Amino acid sequence: MVRYDPEKYAAVADNFVYVHRALRRDLSRIIEGGAELFERDFPRFARILAKHTELEDSLFFPALEERAPGSTTMTTAPHQEIESLAAALVAEDSGGDPSERLRALQELLVAHLREEEELVMPAMMEHFEAAEIWALDGRIMELCPPEFMQEMLPWWFTHIDAEDRVAVAQNMAVGVPSEVLPVLCQWISAGLDEAEWGALVARVPALTSGAV
Ligand SMILES: [Fe+2]
Ligand SMILES: [Fe+2]
Repeated sequence: MVRYDPEKYAAVADNFVYVHRALRRDLSRIIEGGAELFERDFPRFARILAKHTELEDSLFFPALEERAPGSTTMTTAPHQEIESLAAALVAEDSGGDPSERLRALQELLVAHLREEEELVMPAMMEHFEAAEIWALDGRIMELCPPEFMQEMLPWWFTHIDAEDRVAVAQNMAVGVPSEVLPVLCQWISAGLDEAEWGALVARVPALTSGAV
């Protein structure tokens, strides 16, 4: 395994590791869950995927392209293909069997996420200092309305395991302004049961230190 600078790794991991894991896990769950789960949960998956793609296309990748031209070119076609497939699945009348196209989406998405993890994420670490990546990360909130964050955060923490939750929460506790943290924590805890939330706070006490 390649050894990355831990500070830089922490700075890129939210977007390239932990969101990707949640996307893969949620899509597998939806595929296994059949028609009812598809109708209930796929629209949310598609909204979160679309925002993830938008953040890459409008925030992270242009910044990387400035320093390393061509390093995100391989993501352009998959982004378009994945987004149009997901949008078509959302728009579809209920009743048709979406499972074949869901599997096609999964195949494209899994390959795309792997490519970003293997090629784009290392390029981010090569061409940016950790503080610069954090600064880009800090702009995510500008591009995400509160309604989106309220939906995305509990979704995210539900679809990663306990260790990943700790890593993401630690990043948040450091990177998010202290006046914003309490409301984010409220949204996160809405997605977890009491024991899961308790276990997370025990590992990342900063989550509640500023809470009202
Ligand atoms: Fe992407
Ligand atoms: Fe991505």
